[in-house]
This record gives sequence, structure tokens and C-alpha cells, in this order.
Amino acid sequence: MSTTHRVHALLAAMTPAEKLGQLQIVFRPSSTDAAQLIREGIGSVFWPRSAAATNALQRVAVEETRLGIPVLVGLDVIHGQRTIAPVPLAQAAAFDPPLVRELAALAAAEARSGGVTWTFSPMVDVSRDPRWGRVVEGFGEDVHLTAVLGSAMVRGYQGTDLSAPDAIAATAKHYVAYGQPEGGRDYNTVDVSEHRLRNVYLEPFRAVVAEGAASVMAAFNTVAGRPVHANRHLLTEVLKDEWGFAGIVVGDADGVRNLLPHGVAEDLAHAVAQAFGAGLDVEMGGAPRDLDPADLERIDPARLDDAVARVLALKEALGLFDDPYVDPARERIEPTDAARALVRRAAARSCVLLKNDGTLPLRAPARILLTGPYAESTDHLGAWTQSFGAHAGSIADELRGRLPDAEVSVVPGLGFLDDDASGIADAVAAAHECDLVLVLAGEPSALSGEAASRSDLRLPGRQEQLIRAIAGTGIPFGVVLETGRPLVVADWIDEAPAVLVAWHGGTEAATAIVDVLFGDEDPAGRLPMSWPRSVGQIPIHYAHERTGRPASTGGTLTTETADVGLDGPGNVHEKYTSKYLDLGLGPQFAFGHGSGYATFAHGEPRLSGSEVSPDETVSLSIDVTNTSARRGEEVVQVYVEDVVASIAPPVRRLVAFERRTLDPGETTVFAFGLGREALGFWAADAAFIVEPGLFRLHVGPTLTSTQAVELRVR
Ligand code: GLC
Repeated sequence: MSTTHRVHALLAAMTPAEKLGQLQIVFRPSSTDAAQLIREGIGSVFWPRSAAATNALQRVAVEETRLGIPVLVGLDVIHGQRTIAPVPLAQAAAFDPPLVRELAALAAAEARSGGVTWTFSPMVDVSRDPRWGRVVEGFGEDVHLTAVLGSAMVRGYQGTDLSAPDAIAATAKHYVAYGQPEGGRDYNTVDVSEHRLRNVYLEPFRAVVAEGAASVMAAFNTVAGRPVHANRHLLTEVLKDEWGFAGIVVGDADGVRNLLPHGVAEDLAHAVAQAFGAGLDVEMGGAPRDLDPADLERIDPARLDDAVARVLALKEALGLFDDPYVDPARERIEPTDAARALVRRAAARSCVLLKNDGTLPLRAPARILLTGPYAESTDHLGAWTQSFGAHAGSIADELRGRLPDAEVSVVPGLGFLDDDASGIADAVAAAHECDLVLVLAGEPSALSGEAASRSDLRLPGRQEQLIRAIAGTGIPFGVVLETGRPLVVADWIDEAPAVLVAWHGGTEAATAIVDVLFGDEDPAGRLPMSWPRSVGQIPIHYAHERTGRPASTGGTLTTETADVGLDGPGNVHEKYTSKYLDLGLGPQFAFGHGSGYATFAHGEPRLSGSEVSPDETVSLSIDVTNTSARRGEEVVQVYVEDVVASIAPPVRRLVAFERRTLDPGETTVFAFGLGREALGFWAADAAFIVEPGLFRLHVGPTLTSTQAVELRVR
């Protein structure tokens, strides 16, 4: 954002107190407090819950302050405002960037109509630890998927003109590596190498900054011992100097004040000075207001001016100086039919079929039992939907409406967290009177999101016991899992003939789940995170290093293995390899796992050339045919294997993907252009390099069902 004449003029006219006011957003004050805060010079507020209330606050800013600078109105519009979309982790499972952009555009239109101009989204924190409750807010474990979908979300929020009535400023968060806290505990220490920081955690932020994200939010955690809120290397040297980021760095709620418990600041004045000195532009929480103006003299005036200029430039880009008001008559309060249709399609496309013996799609049963806590629950919205009136229906009601001639029994049997399993007997008895049972299980929205880390990832309460009891009846059944994170399903998955993951699907979750169960929609989503066999495997992800002793077997806990030694020089037996004695190798379900209801044949992959220079692009193409009698969706994924590199390479790295619909019998060509960004990596001194040598390109419908072609880089 260039600094215009108006910004320069305002900057020249402002007093230090007025400048400091522009560098704060006070955390969720009441409307009256907000009006008084604005009179005192605060330059940003949280959304006061309506267009009319927003206009009232803007009027105070414009008419009751000396310079009449309008305020930024911020809100966590994470996956929808009035019409709730599937949670971001579910959107990631759809492997569908245009869909993510459409959903963000809908959210922006609804939010801006109410006066919101700044959302604290997308979250592009890569995470390989499903114990961390905030995996629900991001796009999973993969760098490329997170970068592509985060960029799509920014495009959806911001459009091409931030002053448009359906655009809001996006915030990439939480910069950086917040998704890898030790122990999976939210806010905990992060200590990653510069190599991993560059190649995993920074990369999605670099992508969304390049996409034009208007702001970046600092993370609560430390990186290599230095809290991000006071980390000049990350906030200024990398983000602003190296990447040229000209937007706003906003603190997370009380992140500056948290520098005291972090143990890096003696008092609030010291914390505020470190934060703004490190490159923070807007403090969230109100810390500077608690300071004596004299305390602020520690902050370099030029730094303050730079921060104020960034804030004013965003207000100008949003068109607030020209028209800070919204028309209350045009505020979108209720979902439109088109909005409902969009989030319904999205919820269906984010569904992942973990397994299916043919039970799904369902034929219309005469007598069906719905059991489990999600049978009648309407808790489908997921984390961060706040309380602006959004609501969802129940699966039971939706199914009754779709099967008017069937006998639909509903016996939940237990709640989400119940330790009381006495209701399972009623569910079992009801099952014996039915032709089909659907177990609607999962974790409630409250168990994922911020400050919601779990140490045990199995289904909460006694839901596993319910599933095993239904399996024991011998009545055909399927399981639907609604969740905000990967779950450990090892204890029951082998007994379930069909398992569908529906995540937290939002306003139209119930209709979408029924659409998928009956085959009106294809559950062709893919897992955006590995599902571990055990919480003991975490952190777990597919793009791991090979190690010097890769294992090919695991889980051989017997006395024999304890006696096995070396079979001779250099021939290390399975014993001395990287595995667990008491657990099979790898995840229960891998990243990229999934399939739809249709079947597809993949031809031989073709490369436009078998050898390229580091700066050339090669085209990889593959014919895919729908070999089934129904229209279906296929997600083709391309992974790169750098066979030998100067840094231990990951065994695979997703570099491209595409989802397409194919009619029965249709053959189509998926083609991918692969260049430097697919073959290279960030080496020392922030240099992105492509090394000569042999690469293998793996292409297929899932990570574990690919064909490889070789490519040599000269
Ligand atoms: C929270 C979250 C952050 C959110 C902010 C404002 O603590 O960490 O993601 O945007 O506060 O609500």
C-alpha cells in the first residue's frame, strides 16, 4: 500500500498521543466504552455487532475527534459471518481452492455489510500435532496445501479492491510456527530450526503476503527462545525487509502484555517498547493505554510514524476516509438461499470417506436407527462462530424429511462426554428392530479451537463403546464422525464397514451429510492431516525425513525381537530402525487419503522432458478415466521426491493437486506445470535453491497410490 498525500498530511498533523491511539485495538470493549475509547483516540475497535452500532462508532471517530480519522472494525470472521461454512480444516479436505475463495467472498460480503472491515483470518499455521485444538482453524499439515488455500482465502476476502462493499482486509495468522507447540499445548514453546522455519512454517505466510494480505498477526509463542511479539528478526527483518510486507503487523490479544509472563519484559513500558521496536504496528488489548506517555519515549519516533502510516494506508485502501459508513438497510443478517446452497456444497465436498465396504451410499432403508450424540445435536458449526445468530439443523430432522416413508428411530444412547453408558442398551435394542444403523459420533465444537488441546484423541465419553455395541448386533451400519481434528480410531475402525468424516460442516452440515450418505453428493475429500494410530506417534506427518535407519516393519513387541542383533556388518536388522516396538508403522490414515463413490483408472504419467535446468518448467500429465456408472470427483495429487540433496529431504512433498468432476466413462487429462518452486528448497541465508540431481515425481489419487516418473535436474 503506497503512502498517499493524505496519509503524509495526517501524519504531520498528529500529536504523539494521537499517533499512539492509531496503534491500538482494544480487546472487545462494550459499545459505550468503545465510543469513549475512540474519543480518547483509539484507532480500531472490535465489531459492535451491527451496521447501526458500527455507524455510531464511526460517527464518534469522524465528528468527535480532532482529526476525524475513521476506525478499523475488526472481527474473527474465520469461516463465515452469518452463514457458517465448514471449518477451515474441513475446507482444506475439499482440496478445492476456488471453493475456499468463494466461501471467503461470501463471508466478506456478509461481514462488510455489517460494518466489519478487517478479519483476523486466514490462519495459515502448518501443524503436525492434532493434540493442538487450533488445527481446526488452519489447513492442516502440508505447506503447499496451506499456502494455496490461504492465498485463495485472502483473494476471497479482499477481492481486487478493498474499498468495495463486499471486501474486508485479511490477516495471515499466527506468524509464526504457532502450530508446533511442545506437547501440543496451546501457547507453549516452539523451538524449530531455521531450516524447518523457512521450509515449513514461514512458507505459507510468504505466499499469502505475496498474495497481498493486508495484515499479519503475531503469534503468542516464542521461536528459538524469543517471543514473536518482540522478535525483530521475524517481524521486521524477514516479514518487512526481506518480503517487503507493507501492511499492518497486529498483535494477538494481550500478546504484548504476555511478554511479562514470558519473562522478557520487566514492566509494561518495557514490553510495549520491545514490541513496537521489533516491528509490531497495532497492539491488541489496550496495553499502551495503561502507560504514562513519558514511557513511550523509548520507542523510536520514526518507528511509530512508520506504524501509523501503515494503519492510515489501510484505512485509505478500505475507502474509509471517503465513506466510513454502511447502509443498515443492506446489512445481511440471515443466510440467503444461494449462501445456504454454497455452504451445503462445501460441507459435502469436504467430507472424507475413511473406509467403505459398499454400505455407502445408502439405499433407502425401510427402518433406520440413528444413534450417537450427533443424531439430534445441532452443534455442527465448529469453533469461532461466535454468537451472531447462526444455527444448524439436526441430522435426525433432515433424515426424517428425506425418508418420509421410512421408520426412522432416534436413540442417541449417550451424550458427547457422558461417562454413563447405560443408554447403549436401548440403542442396541432399537438396532435389532432396524435394517440399518447410522452411528453419528464425534467431538463437539467446544473440544477444538483456542485453548482446547487434548492429550487423548479418541472419541470422547463412551462413544467407542457404543460403536462396538452396534457392531456386535450384526445389523449393517455406518459411522459418521464430526470433528475439528484428526481422531485416534484404532480401537474400533476395523469393526466399522463404512466411516465418513464430516468435520464441523457449518450451517448446512446436516443437509450435506444426508446428501453424501444417499449419494446426491460425492465425499471425495482427502485428509489434510494424518490420522495417528496413537497419540504416542505425535508429531506425525507424511513429509518426514527418511532418517538414517528407516523402518519397514513396526509393532513387533515380542521377546524374539529383543534378542535380535546385527546380522553382520552393515546389515542392520529391523531391530535397529526408527519404529515403535508396540505400534505399527505410519498413521492410521495418511495425509491425502480418501476416495469418492465413483471409481477411476489412471493412465501412465507423462513428462514433457526427462531432464531440465534448474530454471525450466516441466509438464507432468496423466489421463484419468471414470470407470464407474456414476458421476464422480477425483483429486489428483503430485508429490516430489528429491532423491539426494545437501539437506536431508522429506520423503515426499506435495507440490500440486487438482480436483475435477468426471462423468461416467469420461477420460480427462490432468496436467501440472512444475518449476523451481516444486523442485527447490530454502537453504542457508534465505536462499531458495534447486540442486542438480535425480527427482521422482509421484502422481496419483492419494499419497499411497501413486505412479512415479523420474526427472533429472542438470
Ligand atoms: C485470540 C486468538 C486470535 C484472535 C484474537 C482476536 O486470542 O489467538 O486468533 O484473532 O484473539 O479475537
